[in-house]
Amino acid sequence: MKQMHITETVLRDAQQSLIATRMPIEDFLGVLDDMDKCGYHSVECWGGATFDSCLRYLEEDPWERLRTIKSHLKNTKLQMLLRGQNILGYRHYSDDTVRRFVTASIENGMDIIRIFDALNDMRNIRTAVDACLKAGGHAQGTICYTLSPIHNLEMYVNLGKEIESMGCQSICIKDMAGIMSPQECFDLVSALRKAIKLPIYVHTHATTGLGYMTYLKAAEAGAAGIDCATSCMSGGTSQPATESLTYTLDQMGYDCGVDRARLKKVNDFFVPVQKRFAENGTFDPYVLSTKADALTYQIPGGMLSNLVAQLKAQGAIDKLDAVLAETPRVRADLGYPPLVTPMSQMVGVQATVNVLLGERYKNIGKEVKSYIRGEYGKAPGEINPELVQKVLGDEKMITGRYAESIEPEFPQAKKELGSRAQSDLDVLSYIAFPQQAEHYFEVRDLKEALVSRYTIKEVI
Ligand code: CO
Repeated sequence: MKQMHITETVLRDAQQSLIATRMPIEDFLGVLDDMDKCGYHSVECWGGATFDSCLRYLEEDPWERLRTIKSHLKNTKLQMLLRGQNILGYRHYSDDTVRRFVTASIENGMDIIRIFDALNDMRNIRTAVDACLKAGGHAQGTICYTLSPIHNLEMYVNLGKEIESMGCQSICIKDMAGIMSPQECFDLVSALRKAIKLPIYVHTHATTGLGYMTYLKAAEAGAAGIDCATSCMSGGTSQPATESLTYTLDQMGYDCGVDRARLKKVNDFFVPVQKRFAENGTFDPYVLSTKADALTYQIPGGMLSNLVAQLKAQGAIDKLDAVLAETPRVRADLGYPPLVTPMSQMVGVQATVNVLLGERYKNIGKEVKSYIRGEYGKAPGEINPELVQKVLGDEKMITGRYAESIEPEFPQAKKELGSRAQSDLDVLSYIAFPQQAEHYFEVRDLKEALVSRYTIKEVI
């Protein structure tokens, strides 16, 4: 019987896509034992925006969250998403930070690390992949899927070969915008299977309505696994539904390995959680509607809603069409980067600025300048030479791996934090998100002070 691995994303991508990663651990602690019995290949539960959100909004220690999840999911692999040299942040970190972060993730319970680079510059995932393998983890190399005049099957197959040669145990096609059509998926999975031996996992979103069909074609082409979300947290900008896909694949002769009665139990648990987020306005039903426009503009649904919000805030929503027309032009000028964090934000903001100022590149964002300097890696295509000249002047573009010019960060950060850090993990949180981590440490100190006062009083 053909097999299909299912990765459940409710604890990471689904909640990141639908409710801005605002789910505290109390909202899912009670379902973890059931999730462990579902028969998932893995549960994506960490990485992406969860780390930032724990510190920034939820006053939770992300490392403690990871250990707690692991203590319940004893038989199911834990999976995380890592932004290569950016780890879980928005800039490039030093190699020592990346190595320590990856090693600590595995030591604290992570099994599979899905590692990507926003530009598909594989030099930027090499350190993380190497650290993951050395720590005994499963390194899943990732191709960010995008559409552009320069992205084609040949380019993707070459990326796949590079991932295989790095020693990764599997490969993921990451369609963050949900724009990969069923046929494109079939062709890509088939081409990769011919060229490399690694099992292929497909990740998409239901944003444009293609997701369910794309997964069926992924199965037909021989993909090893797909990412789904429990039904009440599925659809729209989230993943296609776990129950519906496994129901369908089962009839088509695939063994997904899941216990469907248990899947229902898991979903029943999340229904009231979802309802509460809907009632307090965090869950906006807008995210569930099908955004076929994203196929025309070829920009991710999440980016589209960001642009709308940005323009509304500026009182310039009448400029939306102009910004939507400018976005692909900026992307072309920048050598067609895939529109994934942090590139989607850079391109969107620059397009908005170009339109609002009435002159292209009158003002160039700091990050865009860093990108043009080569600090994020190699652009997939050629950056507009006029733009390069404007930003760099006589300065030379960085062609090597930028991280090599970053000094080790850990010793300095540890010194800065002093006694405020309770562990080396605190130091890593601080390097990744300095202000958010400091805020969290303060809150934690306060809570601990309260607890100890209370305890002393009781003893007396
Ligand atoms: Co995603």
